[in-house]
Amino acid sequence: MLPRHVAIIMDGNGRWAQQHGLARTLGHAQGAESVRTVVRQARRRGLGWLTLFAFSSQNWGRPSDEVHDLMDLLVDFLRQEREELIGNGIRLTAIGEREFLPARVREALTETEAATAHCVDMRLVLALSYDGRRDMVRAVQRLTDLASKGQLLPADVSEHQVMRALSTGEMPDVDLLVRTSGELRLSGFLPLEACYAELHFADKSWPEFCAEDLDEALSVYTARRRRFGLTDAQVTAASA
Ligand code: IPE
Ligand code: IPE
Ligand code: MG
Repeated sequence: MLPRHVAIIMDGNGRWAQQHGLARTLGHAQGAESVRTVVRQARRRGLGWLTLFAFSSQNWGRPSDEVHDLMDLLVDFLRQEREELIGNGIRLTAIGEREFLPARVREALTETEAATAHCVDMRLVLALSYDGRRDMVRAVQRLTDLASKGQLLPADVSEHQVMRALSTGEMPDVDLLVRTSGELRLSGFLPLEACYAELHFADKSWPEFCAEDLDEALSVYTARRRRFGLTDAQVTAASA
């Protein structure tokens, strides 16, 4: 079965650039091309949700030139892809601390979100200035705010409510989490949402990642057996 929700940590732009004797920014530009390719392929394959880790809260600590160039690339992407997203029925939204993004990114984001709000064939989510723990803190703030107004009793706090309070509240759990460039870590990406996800680590850097690599990740996923804590025999019986 196809995963309903695929999340990708798009890593390795800088090293790819370095290996080709290029500035890191050119690695990010090439990475933006991979985003285009992978989004197209995801749509072709009929994925429901694709979440891309584009910029972490920790990435603000990079050299200001690099951050600036990344923000410019984001604006370009959001503007240039708008028509194609609409044409393919893809609704774009974002998670993360958007108030930290420069005004030009926030504007482009709001415009693309509004322009694609009616699209229902696929959801594309960009994680921008995102960190899972920070998102969790915000969720706790939302819930304690309700509690302080008397609208939520401690005994009524449920797993469902906690998950709904995250910025990913309306999204299904991650089924397949992919990270490129051979790094074996999550770097703060969707810790609660991906807590039962299948993990796939690709050695290729993100700028090299192509449609066939997404297909490969999907077929690896399809061949996995998800047990969710049950025994093999139980899973077999349930799927019979
Ligand atoms: C991923 O590539 C893009 C972002 C984190 C914004 P990197 O820029 O992390 O590339 P490496 O890991 O340094 O090669
Ligand atoms: C994670 O990549 C963030 C994104 C892909 C946007 P990093 O390159 O920032 O992660 P670390 O620092 O290697 O863990
Ligand atoms: Mg990296």
